[in-house]
Amino acid sequence: MIVDRIRWRRLEDQRVDELQEGRLLRTKAGSRALCFVRLAGRLHALADQCPHQGKPLSGGWCEDGWVVCPWHRFHFDPATGKARNGVCANAEVFPLERRKDGWYVGFPYTTLRFLGIDWW
Ligand code: FES
Repeated sequence: MIVDRIRWRRLEDQRVDELQEGRLLRTKAGSRALCFVRLAGRLHALADQCPHQGKPLSGGWCEDGWVVCPWHRFHFDPATGKARNGVCANAEVFPLERRKDGWYVGFPYTTLRFLGIDWW
């Protein structure tokens, strides 16, 4: 059976804890570049790649609760990744968990589960 899973990676970058409201931060989890933002006290993680033309979102800014891409100024909801007014595809967002030893980012993947084993 095909099942959806999440692979959790601990963030090594401690600057995430000090991220100020409305600011963007580029960091990595494994090989993935991520754009972190704190809005209304809540931390969000987006792929640091705009779905429009692949430019880094972390070079942008926050405006009225949206993350704004600096290249063509498309707006994305940091919680859902949804593009405002459907102007392009949605940004990729990742679940976050605060654990005793730091922040963890979840990377969804699909696998084949057979005989109690995930095969990829
Ligand atoms: S590359 Fe982000 S809006 Fe065009």
